[in-house]
Amino acid sequence: MNSTNCVLIGFMGSGKSTIAKALHRAQGALVLDSDALIESNEDLSIKAIFDSFGEDYFRDLERKFCHFVAHNIQNAIVSTGGGMPLFCDVRSMGKVFFLHLEFDRIVERLDAEQREKRPLFQDYDLALKLYHERLPHYQSCAHYIINANQSISTITQEILERL
Ligand code: S3P
Repeated sequence: MNSTNCVLIGFMGSGKSTIAKALHRAQGALVLDSDALIESNEDLSIKAIFDSFGEDYFRDLERKFCHFVAHNIQNAIVSTGGGMPLFCDVRSMGKVFFLHLEFDRIVERLDAEQREKRPLFQDYDLALKLYHERLPHYQSCAHYIINANQSISTITQEILERL
């Protein structure tokens, strides 16, 4: 295992990118955000990738990202897309922190524009089903489970204490 990276996992809207940035400010390590890197490499939004090439193609890109990080990156903060733990060996990238947030809080946090960007968050009932299906996977992948229903500084502190 590559134990030097801090890997953030969790459902869409659980705050992974926000916490990654806060960790960067606190600690200085560079952030690798899987969705942002995939979008930049493909020169397409996540939504356009799903629409044009389908989910399987996107999952292949995530697997490549995961393999690359596991073999080439150290001392980074890795912010993952919400589906990565189901399709990739996220533990191979580093120490895994699951940002756990109740579904209702996630819904409160994601406005219409934020949902629009997420192909798998178009329908409330389907997203809720996905949330319940994924919860056990997140729990089993995680080295640490962090309560994400706290302030950004508290969450950041809890992660830094465990790194
Ligand atoms: C996905 C989550 C998204 C993005 C894609 C698929 C998922 O990332 O990777 O839309 O399967 O949960 P966020 O978790 O950053 O929203």
